[in-house]
Amino acid sequence: MLDRPLILTGFMGSGKSSVGRVLADRLGCPFVDLDAEIVAAAGRSVNDIFTEDGEQAFRSMESACLKRALDGGLTVIATGGGVVIAEENRINMRKQGVVVNLCVSLAQVLRRLHGATDRPLFAANNAAKSLKLLMDGREQFYADADIRIDTDGKSVEDVAAVILRFVEGLHE
Ligand code: S3P
Repeated sequence: MLDRPLILTGFMGSGKSSVGRVLADRLGCPFVDLDAEIVAAAGRSVNDIFTEDGEQAFRSMESACLKRALDGGLTVIATGGGVVIAEENRINMRKQGVVVNLCVSLAQVLRRLHGATDRPLFAANNAAKSLKLLMDGREQFYADADIRIDTDGKSVEDVAAVILRFVEGLHE
């Protein structure tokens, strides 16, 4: 049985929170949604934090919440899409947990997030071209994972099943 955090990384709309909830349920362990933790700690929405304090302030809160979540033993952690930007976060995640990257196509992101207003970086980059630039710029950081899973055409259950098989394989 896994005794470390299982961390889901991936671009906005890759399904981290939905898959994470299913995984935590199957593993019988706590589920932490990093964005929700940040919002609870700050008492403000992600949009408000970005607007009032700027992205850097959000990133500092994100790193602090990640550190706390990583210290919790077996926990499924759904990160925000930008957690991988900071090298410190990537090092901590790889050192303390198992990092699962959910890959998603640009087309799928545009479909899933159509009309979303709660993600400042989507609102600012929702033209396909700028969203693709943001995605491509992060690709090298998403690649820093123990396993990468293509989620296109897969249901939440399908993706969770692939991850559970991988986790079981870690202990064989
Ligand atoms: C962000 C993704 C969001 C949230 C914030 C910034 C990003 O999380 O953390 O809006 O930089 O990609 P989701 O990936 O859950 O949408």
